[in-house]
Amino acid sequence: MTYEIREMRVSDAKSIIEHKQIVTDENPDTLATAIENRPITISEEEETIKSLDENDFGIVALDGDRVIGMLNMRQDKRKKMEHIAQFGISLQKDFTGAGTGTKMIEAALDFAKKNDIIEKVILTVFSNNPAAIKLYKKLGFVEEGTLKNQVKLKEGYTDLVYMSNFLEK
Ligand SMILES: CC(C)(COP(=O)(O)OP(=O)(O)OC[C@H]1O[C@@H](n2cnc3c(N)ncnc32)[C@H](O)[C@@H]1OP(=O)(O)O)[C@@H](O)C(=O)NCCC(=O)NCCS
Repeated sequence: MTYEIREMRVSDAKSIIEHKQIVTDENPDTLATAIENRPITISEEEETIKSLDENDFGIVALDGDRVIGMLNMRQDKRKKMEHIAQFGISLQKDFTGAGTGTKMIEAALDFAKKNDIIEKVILTVFSNNPAAIKLYKKLGFVEEGTLKNQVKLKEGYTDLVYMSNFLEK
């Protein structure tokens, strides 16, 4: 099964909020999301989407017209770090394991390679998420460092792993 992947639109806001709530509920121990603190309003989400500029990259995966996956990559606006872009990705459980995550990350790397400023793509992942770490390694990411007990879960702590992909241009 393949799912449509396309650029994020302001009109996706409602479906994106629903998606964020679903993946947060499905992954209580592997995702850090703002929606855990309080609900996100549609206008807040619209502003977030509008704030993506020409050096950022936002895509969604769709089942019909419903968002079932998203990837958001932001280029660091600080002068000394403007060569860095960081992304986060999430897919709803029913839609994992079908190659969609791979396609979305490949699209982000493609965008970064063609971009004049971005040289290095980074991400953070919880160390208790070996499936995601395996996928990132497959796509050329290496582990750069680990922050110990950086994440406090309902039961115990887990580490936060920084991974990077220095692009060959
Ligand atoms: C991690 C995630 C982005 C992967 O996307 P996906 O579409 O499921 O992954 P793909 O189908 O493209 O699979 C690619 C690779 O991921 C790994 N993988 C995916 N699901 C896996 C699973 N359940 N168990 C083990 N490995 C898995 C495999 O290495 C697979 O490669 P292979 O097919 O060559 O064996 C997605 O599952 C997800 O969003 N999960 C929930 C939220 C999350 O963990 N996000 C990442 C936070 S950093």
